[in-house]
Amino acid sequence: MAEHELNVGLIGYNFMGKAHSQAWRNAALYFDLAAKPTLKVVCGRSRDRVRDFADRWGWQEYETDWRRVIDRDDVDVVDIATPTALHHDIAIAAAQAGKHIFCEKPFARSVDEAARMLAAAAAAGVTHYVNHNYRRCPAVRLARRLIDDGKIGRLFHWRGAYLQSWIVDPEFPLTWQLQAESAGAGPQFDLNSHSVDLARYLVGDISTVTSMTARFIAQRPLPSATATAFQRGAQQRERGEVTVEDAALMLVQFENGALGSFEASRFALGRKNHHTFEIYGSRGALRFNLERMNELEYFCGDDSAEAQGFRTILATEPCHDYIAHWWPPGHTIGYEHEFTHAVVDFVDAAVHRTPIEPNFRDGLACMQVLEAGLRSARSGGHVAIATNTPISP
Ligand SMILES: NC(=O)c1ccc[n+]([C@@H]2O[C@H](COP(=O)([O-])OP(=O)(O)OC[C@H]3O[C@@H](n4cnc5c(N)ncnc54)[C@H](O)[C@@H]3O)[C@@H](O)[C@H]2O)c1
Repeated sequence: MAEHELNVGLIGYNFMGKAHSQAWRNAALYFDLAAKPTLKVVCGRSRDRVRDFADRWGWQEYETDWRRVIDRDDVDVVDIATPTALHHDIAIAAAQAGKHIFCEKPFARSVDEAARMLAAAAAAGVTHYVNHNYRRCPAVRLARRLIDDGKIGRLFHWRGAYLQSWIVDPEFPLTWQLQAESAGAGPQFDLNSHSVDLARYLVGDISTVTSMTARFIAQRPLPSATATAFQRGAQQRERGEVTVEDAALMLVQFENGALGSFEASRFALGRKNHHTFEIYGSRGALRFNLERMNELEYFCGDDSAEAQGFRTILATEPCHDYIAHWWPPGHTIGYEHEFTHAVVDFVDAAVHRTPIEPNFRDGLACMQVLEAGLRSARSGGHVAIATNTPISP
């Protein structure tokens, strides 16, 4: 049983708010933590809805202004699960108030915002984390272990794809994810941020980027217009401009000489959350598909030719990261477990004052690649990642 408590203030209570709430609740049930997370206060804009959410998920109190969460002396951790536009202001205010910060991805809307967030967190000396949860999938951890053990050899290729299809319908409304002001960019930030984070984790830093983007649907119904038009059965709905790309393709060179490709789309019909990577090296190869997240495919170049082929490893043995705390082998885990693993490592880092990754430095490095991709798509040329941008202040 943990001796201390860590009081959490969660801002945003929808998709990620739920994923985080279950993680803050479950972490201490399944893992031995140095401090027990207390679900202290949750914040959203609608009083009724945030109160219902607090009741349902066991948050002790609720607020409707995020600044009041940060002002509270009894909050140790600020968890940012809001649209991307708010990450910057909330993270900086939280850092200045001395709170540890658990922040959703994409980290920020720009490199400038990311650099300011890192500077504030570093100056305050708080624990800072960017939630690229896929790093905490046991099969992905196994991929890293095989690479570190030299089983893949010299790395030649990264091939990443993150394909979804949720906005193929032109009547899908103009939500915050489709507006540059609130999201920064489209799948280049939303989806490629996860892929770039994994590529940096598994292959290394990226030095040069070439990119292309496309916007397939220029205007969409305004969310409020959609609701009222449905109620009235109206044909004509007021529309607004989509100000982000719908798909982004990116080619990169890694500092270690490897070549990489990234595909990100919300228009890949048939693909729901198809997040895959392949890594090819001089001694072996790896393949991962999030929709089969308990498995890692491994090709061993040392196998005899007659028996060569990709083998599928079910990463559910107690020797695989985090698994000993869950179920017996073969009793698979799911999407939400990655969030619990993130909370477990975050609590450890906050209590013992040890670093956690990916942190705001990684968030900035990732944003440098993603923003370079957007610049390349505009200019049509290669963009070198500026090595003179300070990553650690
Ligand atoms: N880690 C992942 O895989 C993953 C998946 C989805 C989304 N995300 C990221 O998580 C963040 C939230 O995404 P989501 O899908 O949960 O969005 P969402 O639209 O489902 O929820 C956003 C929440 O923020 C709240 N909010 C908005 N403005 C607010 C304000 N001014 N004050 C307080 N609360 C406010 C909303 O009420 C809502 O509860 C985004 O940065 C997104 O990119 C990460």
